[in-house]
Amino acid sequence: MYLSLYRKYRPKSFEEMCGEDHILRAIKNALKNNKVSHAYLFNGPRGVGKTTTARLIAKGLNCKTGITDNPCNKCENCLAIDKGNFIDMIEIDAASNRGIDEIRDLKDKINYKPVVGIKKIFIIDEVHMLTKEAFNALLKTLEEPPAHIVFVLATTEIDKILDTIISRCQRYDFLPVAYDAIKSRLLKISELENIKIDEDSLKLIYEKSGGSVRDSISIFEKIASAYFGEEINYDKTLDLLGTVKIEKIKEFIKILKEDKLENSIKFLDLLWQEGISLEDFFRDFSNYIVNQSLILNDFFEMKDSIKIVDIIYETIFKFKTEDDKRLLSYVIISKINEILNKTKGKNVIIKEVYVEKKGYNNIENGNEPINNLELKNSIDFDQIKKDWKKIIEESGKSKISLLAFLVQAFPLKLENNILYIAFPDENKYHKNLMEKKENGNILVNIVNDMYNSSIDIKYEIYNEKKNSNSVDSNVAKVINFFGGEIIEIR
Ligand SMILES: Nc1ncnc2c1ncn2[C@@H]1O[C@H](COP(=O)(O)OP(=O)(O)O)[C@@H](O)[C@H]1O
Ligand SMILES: [Mg+2]
Ligand SMILES: [Zn+2]
Repeated sequence: MYLSLYRKYRPKSFEEMCGEDHILRAIKNALKNNKVSHAYLFNGPRGVGKTTTARLIAKGLNCKTGITDNPCNKCENCLAIDKGNFIDMIEIDAASNRGIDEIRDLKDKINYKPVVGIKKIFIIDEVHMLTKEAFNALLKTLEEPPAHIVFVLATTEIDKILDTIISRCQRYDFLPVAYDAIKSRLLKISELENIKIDEDSLKLIYEKSGGSVRDSISIFEKIASAYFGEEINYDKTLDLLGTVKIEKIKEFIKILKEDKLENSIKFLDLLWQEGISLEDFFRDFSNYIVNQSLILNDFFEMKDSIKIVDIIYETIFKFKTEDDKRLLSYVIISKINEILNKTKGKNVIIKEVYVEKKGYNNIENGNEPINNLELKNSIDFDQIKKDWKKIIEESGKSKISLLAFLVQAFPLKLENNILYIAFPDENKYHKNLMEKKENGNILVNIVNDMYNSSIDIKYEIYNEKKNSNSVDSNVAKVINFFGGEIIEIR
């Protein structure tokens, strides 16, 4: 019979467990001193050892060598517990119907003495899922537990458990397991399975697992079977796990280094159109640059890589609830650009309110403020179209995010001294952002400076649908974000 690796390697003794040190120490001590509680409550995420620990308690109590923290793993009771078919260990999954039936006659069940063992163990998984009726039955038995019974209740959602239950149990909060602990477990398994895997791969597996030992082992297994008979390295692991192929990441790095923000934006828009999750892309990208800087120091300097990764995670967090992840990506690249430019000693100064600064500087230099200059009406629409790329670039120099906002926009017409700029329908929020004064004024002033004109600018949606003008709450949120955060790029 085929056993998945995490089942095959369920720890048979406390020594094989990884992480959760203080919990395991306390339980071992209880076994050693024969002071096992009549009810435990194990709270924590999936796959960190709650069920496994419960089974180890069952073993420690029922091993034929007597109550021990070091079960023999040879006697029939130990072996039956490993197989999960020990008659005095009753595992109830409260999430399934079977569990509810079992709980119904729990009261009868606990009255029977253990058949072959010393203590009868009830392991109730996902105990928060019990029906009210079952909960009450459980509560009663917890009030007056017979001496031959030990309960181990496990849950991933402690908030849903009544205080009256919690207070009757010895509670332990399991935590996601740390990297070093999971790493050594995976190394042990790879040794036993004769699989060669490098440390960077292990790190990547760990990150994907979120600290769940079971998930780590499952991911490890997936990779091992995909590359059966081969040595596993970082590139192979990333290739298999990533939604994004390494080539894409390398291409992106190249574009970032070319220092053309516009191209980065186009690249990400393309990814987005291909249906690649931009969040995942940036996560994979982060892992890649950090790992590769460790090995090769080839992409960005280590300190920049760290800064970049910081920015990425911070932004992902801030945009957690945002549906359109393109925005997130624009924010990230403008910040990355800032980091990289600073390093090169380039002076990227973002003038916050370009208009006011302009006027102010002119007065300072003894010139008249810009508003009072005589205005010539020499502006020509075809010229604007020709200059459009340059206009966007100039806007970006004043404020990097404008590059992102304007990259999809184009001049539509010039009428009555008003220049109309069009946005494709899917860039509606960019239009909204440009309509904010602090953004719009920059563009107006750049255009008027260039042509020595005094035109106004209006924004439109190309192929505009009737009600596309309404600012939905998401857009409002994003505007807020840009208003509050991005403008602060200096
Ligand atoms: N702390 C741990 N140490 C070693 N292996 C673990 C640990 N936690 C989980 N595992 C592995 O994951 C599998 C599932 O663990 P389990 O105890 O059922 O997790 P939980 O009950 O917390 O969801 C086990 O068979 C084992 O291989
Ligand atoms: Mg479990
Ligand atoms: Zn034994």
